[in-house]
Amino acid sequence: MNTRATRTIAVFGATGLQGGAVADALLARGAEVRALVRSPESERARALAARGVELSPVQTGEADSLVAALQGADAFYFMTPDSHGPEAIEAEIRLGTALVDAAVAAQVPQVVFNSVSGAERDSGVAHFESKRRVEEHLRRSGLRAAIIRPVAFMENFATLAPRVENGELVLRMPLPDGVPLKLVAVRDIGGIAAAILLGTADVPGGAVEVVGDELTGSQIAEAFGARAGFPARYEPLPLSVLGGDAEDESMFRYFAGAGAAYRSDLDAVKAIEPAVWNLTEWIRSTGWALPADVVRL
Ligand SMILES: NC(=O)c1ccc[n+]([C@@H]2O[C@H](COP(=O)([O-])OP(=O)(O)OC[C@H]3O[C@@H](n4cnc5c(N)ncnc54)[C@H](OP(=O)(O)O)[C@@H]3O)[C@@H](O)[C@H]2O)c1
Repeated sequence: MNTRATRTIAVFGATGLQGGAVADALLARGAEVRALVRSPESERARALAARGVELSPVQTGEADSLVAALQGADAFYFMTPDSHGPEAIEAEIRLGTALVDAAVAAQVPQVVFNSVSGAERDSGVAHFESKRRVEEHLRRSGLRAAIIRPVAFMENFATLAPRVENGELVLRMPLPDGVPLKLVAVRDIGGIAAAILLGTADVPGGAVEVVGDELTGSQIAEAFGARAGFPARYEPLPLSVLGGDAEDESMFRYFAGAGAAYRSDLDAVKAIEPAVWNLTEWIRSTGWALPADVVRL
């Protein structure tokens, strides 16, 4: 670790949702952010550079390029991108493994891996299992590491938000009602990762489920309804609406089953970030509202 007062934190995924939130939180706390990017000319990479982020171009398939990008960093955050289908799953494992190996070679003092809630369980979900493989590789690496495991993003409601039908809001998901779904705002993933990376928070046991709220379908619908001042209801859908997508089916089956219903880490999260958002606060933060021309019955 260097002796400079300002810490340099390398971030993989800074042009994306979670890594972007991590970069935001680090910049807000005065850290230097070094973004490992595939395309420094992309709009998102240039937007980061305009905010003072150092861009470090990498070729993810080339170990030397990853090691060079991590030299001298005080800490390293990485996520692995979405994967769907056997080839993408293998590519996700290869990438996560290569990033761990690069951190070992560059002797990065501290690493945070952004996994997924359920990776530590026998979920049967391929893109959770891939993250478990990366977690295992990280644990074997000898690096000083923490694993954060986010639950479903509240941001998914940007596309899933309830719609007005016949004078009421209707939310539909392929999840039985009465099943609590764990949710987190991506902003809070960033805040929690930043606190760990900057050494202002510790993760007892080395891993934390990153959660901000836990609500059934009806409670989620009510949260939107309360915001809009509109009646709201939830309608569970069968898994068949997923069009035979085995990966998505396995994930919703996992959400509905006993595996996902384990004790929430909300208390541990609040110990790191007391102001973590619940769904109502997240909805308010987005400015979500019904169209002005909606007819109230
Ligand atoms: N949606 C949820 O509710 C949820 C919940 C928990 C966990 N997750 C997990 O979160 C991950 C997705 O995170 P996110 O939403 O932050 O991702 P995202 O917004 O899609 O960003 C992906 C990031 O990865 C970088 N990247 C590097 N190599 C890539 C490649 N080969 N393909 C695609 N992107 C690549 C992208 O950079 P450039 O493209 O700029 O190079 C970008 O910075 C997935 O693994 C998912 O399983 C999702």
